[in-house]
Formats: sequence, structure tokens, C-alpha cells
Amino acid sequence: MSIVIEKSRTLDVTRIDPLVTRSSSDGFRHVECLRDEWLSGVNRFDGPGEALFVAALDGRAVGVCGLNVDPYANNLSVGRVRRLYVAPGSRRRGIGRALVAAVVAEPRRSFCKVTLRTNADLFFRSMGFERVEGVEAVTNQLMLHDSQ
Ligand SMILES: CC(C)(COP(=O)(O)OP(=O)(O)OC[C@H]1O[C@@H](n2cnc3c(N)ncnc32)[C@H](O)[C@@H]1OP(=O)(O)O)[C@@H](O)C(=O)NCCC(=O)NCCS
Repeated sequence: MSIVIEKSRTLDVTRIDPLVTRSSSDGFRHVECLRDEWLSGVNRFDGPGEALFVAALDGRAVGVCGLNVDPYANNLSVGRVRRLYVAPGSRRRGIGRALVAAVVAEPRRSFCKVTLRTNADLFFRSMGFERVEGVEAVTNQLMLHDSQ
């Protein structure tokens, strides 16, 4: 078993079709959004500091995670973790953690902090994302520099 975290500048969306199908049937629409927005050109994770990562297990895509400028922050120095998903059959093997680690390593040059909205609070807190109260668009954030 060999897991590789790939930074995807060009995405062959057929690769993530199985993830789209499975996540949608489980009630998570965000991978479908990722695919649709990539195809329409609305979001290709290609703005300043942005990136998209695919986790490949023996060459097969089993997870995704993107990093955008936070569209809710009105501040180009705030990044946002988006569209994180790991296929159910590949969970609890460290793939989610590896995807988020790749995303977090990426923005240190560009962003002061990264935010997200998630139900997986424990998962993100184990990776250093503190809980945020009272902000509708944000449940957790990770500070990357002292000043913000
Ligand atoms: C959340 C998710 C990405 C985790 O992926 P994963 O590959 O199973 O995560 P890892 O194997 O790297 O787990 C890392 C740690 O978090 C813990 N963890 C994993 N999923 C968790 C969850 N849903 N809640 C709480 N803790 C979790 C694991 O126990 C592990 O800790 P350990 O290494 O000390 O045992 C995956 O369950 C998923 O895609 N869920 C559905 C979509 C979703 O909720 N996305 C997040 C929306 S932002």
C-alpha cells in the first residue's frame, strides 16, 4: 500500500468521479461541487496561494482537499480549507491528516491563518485548529503567523 499526496495543477476529473459518486450517496455534496466548479472554471484552486491536493492509493484517487482564499473573509491573507473528503474504505489510515498537513504546509508563504467550517471538530483540533465561536462561516481556524 502506497499513499501519495499529489498537488494537482491540472485535474483529470474522471479520476475523482468515484469519490463524487460515493460522497454524494453519503450525503456529502462538496466533492460534487468541487468537480462541477472545476469543470465550469469557477474554482480551480489557482488563485494566489491556492492549491488542490489528491490522495492516491496505489494510483487510485481516495481523497481530496483544497485550499482557497477564504471567500467569506474579505481578506486575501486568510485561507480556507475546502472540500476535504476521504473515501470510507480508506479512512483511519492517516490520509485525512496527510491531506490537511499538505494544505497547511502550503499557505505559510501566503496566508496568516486558515479557516474552515466542519463537523469534524475533533479531527481538526487534533491538528491544531482551534475552535471559533460566534462566526457563522467559521467553526475552526489555524493561526500561521503571529500577526493578523
Ligand atoms: C474527516 C475525514 C476527512 C478523516 O479522514 P481520515 O483519513 O479517516 O483521517 P485520519 O485517518 O487521518 O485520522 C486522523 C485522526 O483523526 C481521527 N478522526 C478521523 N476522523 C474523525 C472524525 N470524523 N471525528 C473525529 N476524529 C476523527 C482519527 O482517529 C485519527 O486520530 P489518530 O491518528 O490519533 O487515531 C473523513 O472521515 C471524511 O472524509 N469524512 C467525511 C467528510 C467530512 O466530514 N469532511 C470534513 C468536512 S470539512
